[in-house]
Parts: sequence; structure tokens; C-alpha cells
Amino acid sequence: MRFSDAFLDELRSRVDIESLIAGYAEVRHSGSRTPVALCPFHAEKTPSLVIYPHNCSYYCFGCGNGGDAIVFIRNIEHLDYAEAVRFLCDKTGMPFPSDPVDDEYTRLRRRCYEANRAAARFFHAALRSPAGEAARKYLDKRRLTDETVNHFGLGYAPDSWDALLKHLRGKGFSSEELVAFNLARPTRSGGTIDAFRNRLMFPIIDVRGNVVAFGGRVLDDSKPKYINTSDTVVYKKGEGIYALNFAKNNPDRKLILCEGYMDVIAMHQAGFTNAVAALGTAFTNEQITLLSRYCDELYLSFDSDEAGKRATEKALKMLSSSPMKLRILQLEGGKDPDEILKTDGAEKMNSLISTARNDTEFALSQCRGKYDLSTDDGKLGYVNAAVEVLASLGNAVERELYIARVASETGLPMAPIAEQVRKTAGRVRRQKDRASFEQAAREAAGDDRGKIPNPDRRQHLRACKAEETILASLMLNPDFYPRFAGQLDKNCFVTEMNREIYEAFETKLRQGKTPELTYFSDESNPTVSYIAYLSTLADKIAGTPKEFEDCLAVLAEERLKNQIPAIGEMSDEAFAEMIRGKKTDKKTG
Ligand code: UTP
Ligand code: MN
Repeated sequence: MRFSDAFLDELRSRVDIESLIAGYAEVRHSGSRTPVALCPFHAEKTPSLVIYPHNCSYYCFGCGNGGDAIVFIRNIEHLDYAEAVRFLCDKTGMPFPSDPVDDEYTRLRRRCYEANRAAARFFHAALRSPAGEAARKYLDKRRLTDETVNHFGLGYAPDSWDALLKHLRGKGFSSEELVAFNLARPTRSGGTIDAFRNRLMFPIIDVRGNVVAFGGRVLDDSKPKYINTSDTVVYKKGEGIYALNFAKNNPDRKLILCEGYMDVIAMHQAGFTNAVAALGTAFTNEQITLLSRYCDELYLSFDSDEAGKRATEKALKMLSSSPMKLRILQLEGGKDPDEILKTDGAEKMNSLISTARNDTEFALSQCRGKYDLSTDDGKLGYVNAAVEVLASLGNAVERELYIARVASETGLPMAPIAEQVRKTAGRVRRQKDRASFEQAAREAAGDDRGKIPNPDRRQHLRACKAEETILASLMLNPDFYPRFAGQLDKNCFVTEMNREIYEAFETKLRQGKTPELTYFSDESNPTVSYIAYLSTLADKIAGTPKEFEDCLAVLAEERLKNQIPAIGEMSDEAFAEMIRGKKTDKKTG
């Protein structure tokens, strides 16, 4: 739905963007300059998200995410535009405008949440019904208590083609909706059947308490073991974290990341209520970002089989640029947390947690495992591998500590190992410097399309920069619009994206209004981030009429350049025309 400008202005004036962002990310004041924060939209250790309280906006110079308060909430809470506005209304005590024309997408999402919730209830009731006996037996075998089953809302999808379909159709959901929500599947003969049949059901609940998806496990050893909801309007695979709705409230901001649903549930039952899982798919950056909102110290507790070890190494690589401290539990004997709790009890788990190694110790022990330290070759191999690990450590004290450890493990003197680490660290740093230099060079060449989403920027860099200055200037000085009335119109723009933005600005400027970011916060993410980026230019441009005119002149030149087509693309007549033109030029000149 659309909101009036007056409403958006009022909302903006009530929101304190700095404290809003501070609820999700650590905000710092470097001196008296604008506040900055560790960007919650990508993993980073030094803050690159800048907050602009004066116009209630933010922009991350690291990942290019930007916008106003509505966009921030939209992105961080994974809400749609209207939901984000409602969220801010609730927060600021402003009444949400009652508009009966709810936007279709919002409606669909609401229907999906409702259908999922009704499905979860249905599965749970089925588990308690006579049809659920086998599933109840299975849960007994896995030693889950009734309390646990209720807490996680576990259920059973009956062994039927249409039990859920019938139930939800009776509640007013159409077959098309249920297929769209992944609760049902179309058949080849044109019918519809339940998506989950004869499975133990695990509802997946987001941090706001909505049922967004399901995992369904077979009751025996058949394959596939689990089937999961694929993408819907409310769920994207690879973005959710199982049980984070419970675990997010733990006061010490430590989370235990397991591999499976069953591990998490067993952990909670044993009192480890900060256990979560990444839901089967490959671990993603979105999940890391989500975790780091609730977690300072992440314990990896993956299965101890080969697949689990590989998953641990992969996750550690991805986590290396995250600010979370990392620890790795040393489960043994091919076990997963569920089995450890079952065979060795909570005490054992407690000791595994308290003796968990940090990521450096883990990496060193991985190296050590590959060599036989009783031979000279083995010792050398280990030292060389360890040097690579230690060279990338940023903290000198930490480096010293582990150099001493490697020395004592191998019986070799410390000094040459330290020397080797120092040399390798230099090489690593130079590689990093080169990479960041190359990145800077690419940006200088206009190849920062990842951040600035104008697809024509690289090809028309000069024009694009002038256009950006013009647009930023108009946000700063809306009176330039009447002032340059004769010279400025949409045909001045060379790149399509900026022309479109200008047209959007123009509808506001015509009404005598400033093109505020807030009026555009219902635009798609790249567009609104781009407008946020434009508003950050306010600090960098002069904002004078002279500059504005210069930019218009640059655009005039660039337009002319672009009108001359490449010779290869010219028609014969046009080519002859051009040659004639040149000749006449020479004669007259
Ligand atoms: P596991 O095979 O370790 O399952 O897969 P588990 O949770 O420990 O279950 P039990 O103990 O055998 O009953 C770990 C996770 O990988 C995903 C699920 O999220 C599962 O919890 N997975 C696994 C799938 O999505 N599909 C599969 O076929 C298997
Ligand atoms: Mn398991």
C-alpha cells in the first residue's frame, strides 16, 4: 500500500535512526563525526555503515546496503514495506493508517503464515491421534519427552494423500495457495496431493514466532531422510536458523551450532537451550549475519564423521571474517550431539563445551593430525603447515603463545619458527594489500557495480558521476529545480537508471517538495540503496549552482559523444555524410 508523504514525514520525524540501528548493531562515535556501525548486513570487523541522523538514513560503504529507517527494518527483519512501516508505527506509538487496500504480496504472506500455523496445529494434533501411534513410538525411541515435543511443536503428517489438503481446504485455503506455500504438490494427472506424508514434522519458526517452513523426517531408514519446504513468499532456504526463536534470548550471547534438528532438540531437552542448527543446506552468509545478531561466541558442534569435519572446516572459512569468537567442540567416535547426550549424558557435553578449542587451536590440531611427530620429516611438515596458520593471526600475543606451543610440541627452538611466521605474515599482508589495492583501483575505474547498481556506470563513468552529482544536489537544494527549469529535464540524462530516478524525483519537485529518501523506501532494494548512496554524496559535493551547471555541461558533451555511432554500425549514407561533413569542415576551417 502507499502512504501519504505527510504520514511518512511524521514517521521519519519520530524515528531516531541511530538508536534504531543500535538495537541491531554496535554503533560507534569516532570523535564528533557521524555515527558508524558494524554493518549487520554483511560480516565485518571494522564499521563501514554510516548513519545520517539529519535525514534519517544510513548507507554501508562496504556492501552498498542503504536507505531510511523503513528500509533498514525491511531488510533486517525481513519484512515487506507495509510490514516495516507497521513495525515502526508500533515502535513509535504512531497509529498505522487503516487502508483497506492491502497490497497483494502482504496478503499472500499473511495467508502463508496462517496456512503454516494451521498446518503445524494439524500435524501436532495428528501426532496425538490414533494415527500418530507409530510416530509417538518413534519419538519414545529417540527419548524425547512430551514436554519437549510440545515445546518444539513437533507433529506427524498422516500416511494419506490428502489429509492436510482436506483440513486446510475446510479452513478456506485453496489448492493453489497450498501448492504455492509448499504444503501440497500438483500431480501429473492434474490433481493435488499433500507434500508431507507419513513423516515426523518439525515446524521451523522464525525469530518473530511465525511458522515459516517444515522439515519432515521418515520414521525408518528410507530415503530421503528429510524433506524440507523449499522457497515460498515467507521462507528462503539457507536464510533460516532452526530454534533461534528460543536460543536468541540467551543472556550470555553464546550459541551452539549443530547440524541437525534432532541434535538441537536433544540439546534443549538436556538444558542446552542455546543450541541451534543451520538446516541442512550449505551454511550461508545470511545465516552468519543472522547468528551474529544474537551471538558473540559461536560453538560449532557438528557431527564427528567425515562429512561433519568437512562441514566444520568450510564453516570456519566462511566465519573467518565474522566478528564472532569461534570455538569447536571435539565430539569423538563419529557421534553427533544427540548420541553423545544419550550415551554419555549432559555432564560430558558440559565438559566438551568448556574444553572446546578456539579456531586457531582447531586448525593447528588439523595440521598435527596429518604428520607423524616422532620423525624429523613429520616435525618439519607440521611446523610448515602451522606457520601458515599462525601467519594469518592478527594478534601478536596470540601468535607468540602458539609459536611457543608448536615449539614445545616438536621439541624445536622457538626463534626460527617465529622468524618463519614473521616472513610468511609479511607475504600474507602483501597479498592482502595487493588485493585491496586492486579493489581500490577497480573502484576508481568505476567498476564498483556490486555496490552502485547502475548497470551503465562503467561504460559512462564521466556522465554517471555528473548525473549523481545533479541528483544529490537536488536532494540538497530542491530550489535548483525551478532555478534550472529551462536546462534540466529527463533527456539530459545519459544513463537510464539515473533518468528514471530523476523522473521519480521530479514528481516530488513539481509539488515543491524535497525528494526525500523516505518517499522512495517502497522501491526495490537496489534502487533505494542507490538513492541512499546519492544522499551520502551530500557531504562530498559542493552543492553550488556553478557545480550544477558544470555537470549539465558535462552531460551535454557526453550526450553528443554518444550520438556519434561507431563507424562499423553506420549506414553507407551516414558514413558518406560524415566524410562530407569532415571535408566541408576542412574547407571552411
Ligand atoms: P543428519 O543426517 O545428521 O540428521 O542431518 P539428524 O538431524 O541428526 O537426524 P537423525 O539423528 O538421523 O534422526 C543433519 C541435518 O541435515 C538436514 C536436516 O536439517 C538434518 O537435521 N538434512 C539431512 C536434510 O535436509 N535432508 C536429508 O535428507 C538429510
Ligand atoms: Mn542424528
